[in-house]
Amino acid sequence: MFRVNENFAKLPGSYLFATIAKKVAEYKEAHPESEIIRLGIGDVTQPIAPAIIEAMHKAVDEMGRAETFRGYAPEQGYDFLREVIAKNDFQARGCDISADEIFVSDGAKCDSGNIQELFSADSVIAVCDPVYPVYVDSNVMAGRSGQYNAESGRFDRIVYMPCREENGFLPELPKERADIIYLCFPNNPTGEAIGKEELQKWVDYANEHGSVIIYDAAYEAYISEDGIPHSIYECEGAKTCAIELRSFSKKAGFTGVRLGFSVIPKELKCGDASLNAMWFRRQGSKYNGTPYIVQRAGEAVYSPEGSRQVSEQIARYMKNAGTILNGLKGLGYTAYGGVNSPYIWLKTPAGMKSWDFFDFLLDKANVVGTPGAGFGPSGEGYFRLTAFGTYENSLKALDRIARI
Ligand SMILES: Cc1ncc(COP(=O)(O)O)c(C=O)c1O
Repeated sequence: MFRVNENFAKLPGSYLFATIAKKVAEYKEAHPESEIIRLGIGDVTQPIAPAIIEAMHKAVDEMGRAETFRGYAPEQGYDFLREVIAKNDFQARGCDISADEIFVSDGAKCDSGNIQELFSADSVIAVCDPVYPVYVDSNVMAGRSGQYNAESGRFDRIVYMPCREENGFLPELPKERADIIYLCFPNNPTGEAIGKEELQKWVDYANEHGSVIIYDAAYEAYISEDGIPHSIYECEGAKTCAIELRSFSKKAGFTGVRLGFSVIPKELKCGDASLNAMWFRRQGSKYNGTPYIVQRAGEAVYSPEGSRQVSEQIARYMKNAGTILNGLKGLGYTAYGGVNSPYIWLKTPAGMKSWDFFDFLLDKANVVGTPGAGFGPSGEGYFRLTAFGTYENSLKALDRIARI
């Protein structure tokens, strides 16, 4: 008789955004007249930029002609895309990353969930709290956790690094063993970024302790301030201890197109084992390549027109972020983020529990956000709003919040 992977039973309830979607659907059914503004899930709303659409059309036409038709894409990604990524995202910032250290994928969610396969089953993982849930869930499924403790909201055998208001929402270096350290900056959900000096401490720690950092830079394109690293490879020594994950989802509106990449430097080794070679082997066995049309779309993001157009889109979202952040502060809320990221992390009023505030806001303002507690116990008492709506809806949401 077959047996299931019992680690799945350790996972509490459903995926956070599935729970929110269910709650909103129930509310909508009970109040069909309500006009709900969704600032919960981090999905973009602006259409794909014209230069990218043009590149996709051209690629579609190529697929329809025998001379230019393409079948399976290379597992690591086409050279044309990996070359522009290496040049624009890394070499232009002084990071010595080459095309053969880049692995094109269908997005950072899959990469951040799959990357743990490279590490031994008894590795200890460390995550920020609050955290993007995929890092924890994927390791729980792989058996790297103990049981879930409903009281603490934590899994045994996982190291949680609280990110609190008093430390600028930055984690502290772990005191206990941490083999694989997940960092995400600019951060989802707190919206806060990490400075270069601070990030350097993590790189030094990882090199000293033989840890590996999985650095999720999905929101890198939203950095607006100087002194904030766009890549962990801006830090000295990062190539021997860090993997970086990137996504085109928020950079270029590709949430439905699906494109991302992982950077695994050749210097990143455990004894004789090269993580770059292992991931190449893994992708060869389990991944059949990102579609040609999508990779041409990705290439167009770096063209002069494409990059100007995506920068304009990001500026529009960041105008929303500034409006929500300053609007909330003007209403007396304590709010963070929104400067180097599209997320605003606000303190719930009068110490309300974050799920209670979710229900309250949905009912009184018909505005959907994400309860901080859904990202981990240190998220309790906080609430995340996204800047990915329209400007009109951002204003309307604020106006409704002002009236409750
Ligand atoms: C921190 C973080 N990493 C990864 C992702 C997933 O990105 P993708 O759409 O490329 O799978 C998200 C999406 O919300 C995210 O917030």
